[in-house]
Formats: sequence, C-alpha cells, structure tokens
Amino acid sequence: MKSLKMFVAIAVVFAVSFSLLSFEMGWVVPAADAAIKNPVKNTPASVDAGKAEYTKTCKMCHGATGVGVGTMAKPSNFTSKDFKGQTDGAIFYKISTGFGKMPAYKTKIKADNDRWNLVNYLRTL
Ligand code: HEC
Repeated sequence: MKSLKMFVAIAVVFAVSFSLLSFEMGWVVPAADAAIKNPVKNTPASVDAGKAEYTKTCKMCHGATGVGVGTMAKPSNFTSKDFKGQTDGAIFYKISTGFGKMPAYKTKIKADNDRWNLVNYLRTL
C-alpha cells in the first residue's frame, strides 16, 4: 500500500514536470507527425467542407480572415509566413492536440478527413 502511494506520488511529480516542460518549450510538433502527408487533396469540395467547419467551430477565436479575434487567438495568424511555412502534418497535429487556450479537436471533430479539410481551408487564407 505504502509503495503504491509512493508510486502515485512519483508519477504525479513526473506528469506535472513534463507538462511544465512542454509548456516552457512552446508548441512542439513531433517530427513524425510533421512528416505525415495530407491524404485529402486540396479540392474546392474539401476547402468548402473545411470552411463550413471553420465558420462553425473556429471563427469565434481565429476570425473570418484567420488573423485572430481580439487577443484570443494570437499568436496564430494563419496568413503569416511562419504559419504557411509549416507542413500540413504539423497543422493537422496542432488542430488535433490543441495547446494552451487552443482546444484539441481529435475527439470533437472525429473523422481525420474533416480535420484535413480544415488544413486545406487554412491554406487558402
Ligand atoms: C477558444 C478559442 C479557439 C478556438 C475555438 C480555436 N482555436 Fe485554434 N488557437 C487558439 C489559440 C489561443 C491558439 C494559439 C495557441 C498557442 O500557441 O498558445 C490557436 C492556435 C491554432 C493553430 C496553430 C497556429 C500556428 O501558429 O501554428 C491552429 C492550426 C489552429 N489554432 C486551428 C484551429 C482550428 C482549425 C479550429 C477549429 C476547428 C480552432 N483552431 C479553434 C484558440 C482557438
């Protein structure tokens, strides 16, 4: 019993220090995720589907033009060079996992292709 409590205490300390560490380092996308190829072609149909989801779910924070609403979605500016320089895989990862005030959409927008549609739409901003 005692050793179980000790184990739980150590596990908690590790979990907290890891989450602090990842916060310190900013939003790091694992190389393997950044390298994932977008399986959904950037067609008008995909972009339209992405736009519909964006308008419903993302616009309130990121704004209609993708530069952010108020102070909420800064430092994300989807029209910036930094943002456009990322791979589709990295953007997909960020939409899926979230970070800080950015929600994780992996379980909210369940189908992978719906999240790839969002990536395709963000590319048009
Ligand atoms: C509650 C407000 C909120 C909503 C809703 C939201 N986001 Fe975000 N998003 C943020 C914030 C804040 C950040 C910046 C996080 C950080 O870097 O600390 C962000 C960052 C991002 C990034 C990373 C940008 C970069 O510079 O690399 C992407 C991509 C993104 N959001 C996509 C989306 C998509 C797609 C949706 C809708 C499915 C969405 N967001 C909904 C607040 C939001």
